[in-house]
Amino acid sequence: MAPCVSCFLLAVLISASCKAIPSSDPKCTGKDDNRTYNCENLGLREIPDTLPNTTEVLEFSFNFLATIQNTTFSRLINLIFLDLTRCQINWVHEDTFQSHHQLNTIVLTGNPLIFMAETSLTGPKLLKHLFLTQTGISSLEFIPVHNLENLESLHLGSNHISSINLPENFPTQNLKVLDFQNNAIHYISRKDTNALEQATNLSLNFNGNDIKGIEPGAFHSKIFQSLKFGGSFNLSIIFKGLQNSTIQSLWLGTFEDTDDQDLTSATFEGLCDMSVESINLQKHHFHDLSSSTFRCFTQLQELDLTAAHLNGLPSGIDGMNSLKKLVLNENNFDQLCQINAASFPSLRVLYIKGNMRKLDLGTRCLEKLENLQKLDLSHSDIEASDCCNLQLKNLRHLQYLNLSYNEPLGLEDQAFKECPQLELLDLAFTHLSVKAPHSPFQNLHLLRVLNLSHCLLDTSNQHLLAGLRDLRHLNLQGNSFQDGSISKTNLLQTVGSLEILILSSCNLLSIDQQAFHGLGNVNHLDLSHNSLTGDSTDALNHLKGIYLNLASNNIRIIPPHLLPVLSQQSTINLSHNPLDCTCSNIHFITWYKENLHKLEHLEETTCTNPPSLRGVKLSDVKLHCGITGVGIFFIVVFVFLLILLLIFSVKFILRWKYQHI
Ligand SMILES: *[C@@H]1O[C@H](CO)[C@@H](O)[C@H](O)[C@H]1NC(C)=O
Ligand SMILES: *[C@@H]1O[C@H](CO)[C@@H](O)[C@H](O)[C@H]1NC(C)=O
Ligand SMILES: *[C@@H]1O[C@H](CO)[C@@H](O)[C@H](O)[C@H]1NC(C)=O
Ligand SMILES: *[C@@H]1O[C@H](CO)[C@@H](O)[C@H](O)[C@H]1NC(C)=O
Ligand SMILES: *[C@@H]1O[C@H](CO)[C@@H](O)[C@H](O)[C@H]1NC(C)=O
Ligand SMILES: *[C@@H]1O[C@H](CO)[C@@H](O)[C@H](O)[C@H]1NC(C)=O
Ligand SMILES: *[C@@H]1O[C@H](CO)[C@@H](O)[C@H](O)[C@H]1NC(C)=O
Ligand SMILES: *[C@@H]1O[C@H](CO)[C@@H](O)[C@H](O)[C@H]1NC(C)=O
Ligand SMILES: *[C@@H]1O[C@H](CO)[C@@H](O)[C@H](O)[C@H]1NC(C)=O
Repeated sequence: MAPCVSCFLLAVLISASCKAIPSSDPKCTGKDDNRTYNCENLGLREIPDTLPNTTEVLEFSFNFLATIQNTTFSRLINLIFLDLTRCQINWVHEDTFQSHHQLNTIVLTGNPLIFMAETSLTGPKLLKHLFLTQTGISSLEFIPVHNLENLESLHLGSNHISSINLPENFPTQNLKVLDFQNNAIHYISRKDTNALEQATNLSLNFNGNDIKGIEPGAFHSKIFQSLKFGGSFNLSIIFKGLQNSTIQSLWLGTFEDTDDQDLTSATFEGLCDMSVESINLQKHHFHDLSSSTFRCFTQLQELDLTAAHLNGLPSGIDGMNSLKKLVLNENNFDQLCQINAASFPSLRVLYIKGNMRKLDLGTRCLEKLENLQKLDLSHSDIEASDCCNLQLKNLRHLQYLNLSYNEPLGLEDQAFKECPQLELLDLAFTHLSVKAPHSPFQNLHLLRVLNLSHCLLDTSNQHLLAGLRDLRHLNLQGNSFQDGSISKTNLLQTVGSLEILILSSCNLLSIDQQAFHGLGNVNHLDLSHNSLTGDSTDALNHLKGIYLNLASNNIRIIPPHLLPVLSQQSTINLSHNPLDCTCSNIHFITWYKENLHKLEHLEETTCTNPPSLRGVKLSDVKLHCGITGVGIFFIVVFVFLLILLLIFSVKFILRWKYQHI
C-alpha cells in the first residue's frame, strides 16, 4: 500500500511540475515574418527551442548566459542582428559565431566580459557593427580582430580605456564610427592617430574624456566627418591639438555637471590652423566676449551656441561671410538687435528658439540678412502689437518662419509683406489679433503651410485668409467659430487650393451644408474633438476619396441618405462617438460592417446606446430589426377595428337599402 501511496504522490508531483512549466515558461514574441524575435528579460539561460532556424533578428537582452560558445547559437545560422545586452556574459569562447556568415550586428553592451577568444568573432565576415559599451574593457588589445575587415562602427563607450592605441593589425579601412565616450582617455599621441590613417571620413567620439594633452601633429592632415570632445576641461588643448586637420563637424559642447573653463579669445587660437565646417559650443560660458573671440571663426559654415549664456553678440565681428547657419537657442537676449546680425551676411538659417527672456523683435534687426531662408523664433516670449513688417524688414528670401508659442501678436494688414517668398508660417499657440476686415497674409502667394492652431482667431473675419492662393495645409485647431457653427459664407472660401484642413477642437456643433463648397482639392479633413452630429457630414457631399477624422464628436445616428457621403471617402475615423446601436440606426450599422476596410480605430468605435450594448464594438453588434411585439399588437388592433368598421358600414348600407325599397 505504502509504495502505491508514494507512487501516487510522485505522480501528482510530476504532473504538478509538468503543469507548472508551461504556465511559467516565458515565450519569446515574434513578428509574422518568422524572422524577428524578442526574448528580452525572460530569465532565459539558453536559446529556446521554440525559436525557428529562420530567425534573423534576435533581441535577447536581460537574460542569463554567463558564457557563449559554438553551440549557443549554432542552430540560428541566419542571424543578422543579435542583441545580448546585459546577459551577464563573462566568456565568449572560440568559434562562437563560426557559421554565422550573415551576422551584421552584435550588441554585447553591459556584459562584464572577462575573456573573448581570438576566434570568437571569426565567421561573421560581414560584421559591420560591434557594441562593446560598458563591458569593463580597459585595453583595445582585448578585442579579437580576426575577420573584422568590414567593421563600420565600433562602440566602446563607458569602459576603462586610457589609450586609443589600436592593435597593429586592426582593420580600419571601412571604419566610419569609433565611439570612445566616457572612458579615461587623457592623452592622444601621433602613434594613436596614425593607426586610424586608413579610415577616411571617420566619426570619432571622445565626449566625457577629459583630454589633457594631444601630441603636436597628431591630427596633421587628417580628415574627419565628425569629432566630439564634449566635456573637456581646457578647450585650448583641443584646438592646438587639431592643427592642420580637416573636420566637417566639431562638437565641443559641455554638460551641466562638467566643471570647465570659460572660453576666451585665446582658447580659439588653434582654430585658425585647421579647417572646420561646423562647430557646436553649447552650454559654455564666454569670458570677455568681443569681436576678437571670433577671429578664427571666419571659415565656419555652421555655429551652434545653444544655451551659451549669451545676452548679445559683439559688434564688429569681421569676416564671418561663410556662415550659413547660426543657432542661438536658449540664450538671454532682450532684443533681437543684440545678436548684431549684420556680422553674418550670408546666413541662410537662424534659430533663436526658447530665449530665456522676453525677446523684443526691435526694428530692422535682421535687415542685412538678405539670404535668410529659415527663421525660428518659437518659444521666445515675443510680444508685438504691430507685427511684422518693420521687424522682418528686408527678409526677401525667407521661406520658413516659426513664431509659435509666443505672446500676443497684433498682425497688421499685409503683415508679412517683407517676406513674399514665405512657404511655411507657424503661428501655433501665439494669440493673434487682426483688425477686420483685413488679411495679414494678403501677399503670401507662395505660402503652402499655415499653422494657426490655438491662436484665438476671430474666425468671423471672412477675409482673414484672403490672398493665400497656393495654400495646401491649414491648421485651425483650437479656434472657435461663432455659435459653434461654420456658416455658408466663411473664411475658407478664399483658400480653394487646400489639401489638408485641420478643424479639430474648434467647439463645432454644426457645419452648413455649403460651408466647404469652395474646397474641391481637400484630401485630409480632421474634424475630431468637436460636438458635431451625423447631419454635418452633408457638408462633405462633394468631397471624394478623402481621409476623414470624425473621432470624439457627438455622432449618434447617421441618417441613410448621408451614407453615400461616407461611402465615397477613403478612410474614416469614427472612434469615441456616442453611437446609437438600436434599430433606428440599423442602416448605418449595416453600412459600417460592410465598410470596415475604410474605417480606422475600430477598437474604440463602440456603442453608447442602448445601455445594454454600451462599450460593445460596433463591428460586433448584431441587431434583428423585424417588427416588434408592440408593433404586431397595434397592427392586430388596427385590423380588428378596420373589420369592425367594415361590418358596421355594410350593416348600415344594407339597412339604408332596405329602408328605401
Ligand atoms: C511562420 O511559421 C508558421 C509556423 O511554422 C507558418 O505557418 C507560417 O506560414 C510562417 N510564416 C511565414 C511568413 O513564413
Ligand atoms: C564546438 O567545439 C567543440 C570543441 O572544439 C567541437 O568538438 C564541436 O564539434 C563544436 N560544435 C559545433 C556545433 O561546431
Ligand atoms: C534546425 O537546425 C538544426 C541544427 O542545424 C537541425 O538539426 C534542424 O533539423 C533544423 N530544423 C529545421 C526545421 O530545419
Ligand atoms: C561621410 O560620412 C557622412 C555620414 O557619416 C556621409 O553623409 C558623407 O556622405 C560621407 N562623405 C564621404 C565623402 O564619404
Ligand atoms: C601644420 O602644417 C604646416 C604647413 O604644412 C607645418 O609647417 C606645421 O608644422 C604643421 N603643424 C603641425 C602641428 O603639424
Ligand atoms: C589650457 O591649455 C593651454 C594650452 O595648452 C594652457 O596654456 C593653459 O594654461 C591651460 N589652462 C589651464 C587653466 O590649465
Ligand atoms: C515650430 O516650433 C515649434 C516649437 O519649437 C515646433 O514644435 C514646431 O514643430 C515648429 N514648426 C515647424 C513647422 O517646424
Ligand atoms: C504646425 O503645423 C505644421 C504642419 O503640420 C507642423 O509641422 C508644426 O509642427 C505645427 N506646429 C506646432 C507648434 O505644433
Ligand atoms: C482616430 O482618432 C482618434 C482621436 O483623434 C485618435 O486617437 C486615433 O489615433 C485615430 N486613429 C487612427 C488609426 O489614427
